[in-house]
Amino acid sequence: MGKFITFEGVDGAGKSTHLSNFVAGLRARGAEVVLTREPGGTALGESLREILLHQAMDSHTEALLMFAARQEHIAQVIRPALAAGKWVVSDRFADASFAYQGGGRGLDWGKLQQLEHWVLGDLQPDLTVFFDLPIEVARERLNRDGNLDKFEQEQGDFFERVRAGYHRRMAEQPQRYVCIDANRPLDAVAEQCQAVLAQLLKD
Ligand SMILES: Nc1ncnc2c1ncn2[C@@H]1O[C@H](COP(=O)(O)OP(=O)(O)OP(=O)(O)O)[C@@H](O)[C@H]1O
Ligand SMILES: [Mg+2]
Repeated sequence: MGKFITFEGVDGAGKSTHLSNFVAGLRARGAEVVLTREPGGTALGESLREILLHQAMDSHTEALLMFAARQEHIAQVIRPALAAGKWVVSDRFADASFAYQGGGRGLDWGKLQQLEHWVLGDLQPDLTVFFDLPIEVARERLNRDGNLDKFEQEQGDFFERVRAGYHRRMAEQPQRYVCIDANRPLDAVAEQCQAVLAQLLKD
């Protein structure tokens, strides 16, 4: 039986960098893996991603579109893959809505929980790998890459609030997370990701 794994963290934390090795490690051990991302993961979801990452909108609209894309993602990709015994690894999932729309934009946590209940039902990741690091370090990495999207262009303490949103979420469901100290050299973080993978395959 496959598992549902998500990678989370603020922009620039290193999620995408480590995702491909993680998935390669799983595949090397014979797992069938669907690698996907949010917002996105379906044709409609990718169209919504373009809108979400580039157009200004009311923060409630933003949350609703995120969950609309997620509904499609769950129905078309995640549930069918898990039902077929595959692994699903997603670059972001519902925690990001709590962190960005809840923490970052200050949207009511209870409203997000209602959306979560509606859209996710009983589906939660088996494991969430959370990449944690000081916001200044994440910013520096992003600025090096250039070409920032709507969220990455946020200023002030937006990302501190996003990080706090992730921490609040982790405190609510601690059993689901592995917290990675992402403020270390690439190979040290990669090594910890491989250790997480080894543990996961032992369970
Ligand atoms: N441990 C690290 N040390 C130094 N640089 C790193 C480290 N991890 C990632 N980077 C670099 O930081 C940049 C951002 O990493 P990455 O794209 O993986 O972040 P991300 O979490 O996927 O961000 P986003 O949410 O914006 O997609 C990349 O240029 C990557 O090479
Ligand atoms: Mg990324």
